[in-house]
Amino acid sequence: MKTIKDIIAQKSRQEPITMLTAYDYPIASFLDEAGIDIILVGDSLANVVLGLDSTTEVGMKEMLHHTRAVVRAVKNALVIGDMPFDSYQLNPSAAVDNARQFIEAGCHAVKLEWFEGCPKVAAAIAQSGIAVMGHVGLTPQTAQKIDGMKVQGRDASSAKVIMDSARALEDAGCFSVVLECIPQEVAQVITRQLKIPTIGIGAGPHCDGQVLVIHDVLGLFSRYQPKFSKKYADLGPLILQAVKQYRDEVKANKFPDDAHSFHLPADEIKRLIQ
Ligand code: KIV
Repeated sequence: MKTIKDIIAQKSRQEPITMLTAYDYPIASFLDEAGIDIILVGDSLANVVLGLDSTTEVGMKEMLHHTRAVVRAVKNALVIGDMPFDSYQLNPSAAVDNARQFIEAGCHAVKLEWFEGCPKVAAAIAQSGIAVMGHVGLTPQTAQKIDGMKVQGRDASSAKVIMDSARALEDAGCFSVVLECIPQEVAQVITRQLKIPTIGIGAGPHCDGQVLVIHDVLGLFSRYQPKFSKKYADLGPLILQAVKQYRDEVKANKFPDDAHSFHLPADEIKRLIQ
């Protein structure tokens, strides 16, 4: 089983850290079998699984439900629970209680997105003995309130704000930080400056690790595809083809055939219908 120490050690020996999201048992089993280092039960659950518009529309109940399914599948990877919007931004002690619920559900750590009071909350969670990952740059939970879902840190002064946020999270005790949707040069400077690993998404190749949303990787989410994500497989058309074939075979009385049915011995049939 991967540990926080293992993940930090990967930065020291420059071994890239792999991270993907999962929200259910079957996908988590595949990621774990493939040797992914970190599985994030992301609040992107809202968009790619539940069909909602914003990650702020999921709460602790939904996140814990999906976390338990993922945890049941994982034997090796580090599992991180993404804390939903209203579970940590109100006050540090509620944040610690909610973080503990992710640990009780089987996670090894939690993740929080940057907001003004984030270092204080991250410190409270870390001091309670729970490992915390930070998340800076584009932070979808609050993006609408700031300047939208677009690349952040495109000039020196806004890049400096992101850099300072990442450093504040390291100082608060985070063991790692996600850098989302920032220029690769900014991610490179942050990665060099921090002792803790950086995990990039839309942040270029110089981070200590990379994360993507699994539905983007597998071609399972067609509503939008961010420029930074790569489709490694296109499962959508395969699913459509399989379902259409099933529909056609049922309509044509071809399924189920003998190979997919059970028989009652002739004497039992006789007894049944006499
Ligand atoms: O919820 C999520 O999928 C995330 C990743 C984009 C890092 O936070």
